[in-house]
Amino acid sequence: MRLISPSILSSDFSILGEEAAACERAGADMLHIDVMDGHFVPNLTLGAPIVRSLRKRASLPFDLHLMISQPQRYIPDFAAAGADLITFHYESEGDPAETVRQIRDLGKKAGVSLKPGTVPECLLPLLPSLDMILVMTVEPGFGGQKFRADMTEKIRFLRGRCEEQGLSPYIEVDGGVTPETLPLAAEAGADVFVAGSFVFSAPDRRAAIEALRNA
Ligand code: DX5
Ligand code: ZN
Repeated sequence: MRLISPSILSSDFSILGEEAAACERAGADMLHIDVMDGHFVPNLTLGAPIVRSLRKRASLPFDLHLMISQPQRYIPDFAAAGADLITFHYESEGDPAETVRQIRDLGKKAGVSLKPGTVPECLLPLLPSLDMILVMTVEPGFGGQKFRADMTEKIRFLRGRCEEQGLSPYIEVDGGVTPETLPLAAEAGADVFVAGSFVFSAPDRRAAIEALRNA
């Protein structure tokens, strides 16, 4: 089963609520919300008040991708604002096992993301506690970059280790996903696909989401 999570980073921020609602109407399975702090990555996006406002306009699951240096400091705000799944970066500050526990104690699903340069072995001790693994297929920070096909080995490795242990977390890929690149990640074991520029530059979002699902 392939789930599609459009990234609102590529949407029109002046009508963000309408963009979120339109994604839901167009058949998106989740809404991917990129949070950047200008420190962990060289770009700034949005915080918990905007997530709270969006929550009133869409009921699909909110898939938060925290690209911030201090996730533990902001996770309670994002949980209260209506996030369903909270993913932080393994490379950010704080003990990852503790951050996962913090998210789960708040009643939310927990994910950990890896930058392209981070080896997948670091996640092995965490696997049993994860609802999602997010494998970045670009350097985080900006939409519209080219998919890194060399990341498929990381996906395959992680899916294999999960299967050996009878675990089935989502494996999400983010960065440069199109109908051409999605099958490479799907074949390696990914099942949730983030797409920003592909969905938001399409004249027909429903058709774009369908094209990804059927790619
Ligand atoms: C990049 C973000 C992505 C981005 C993907 O750091 O995490 O979610 O919006 O955009 P595309 O699909 O255009 O690569
Ligand atoms: Zn993202």
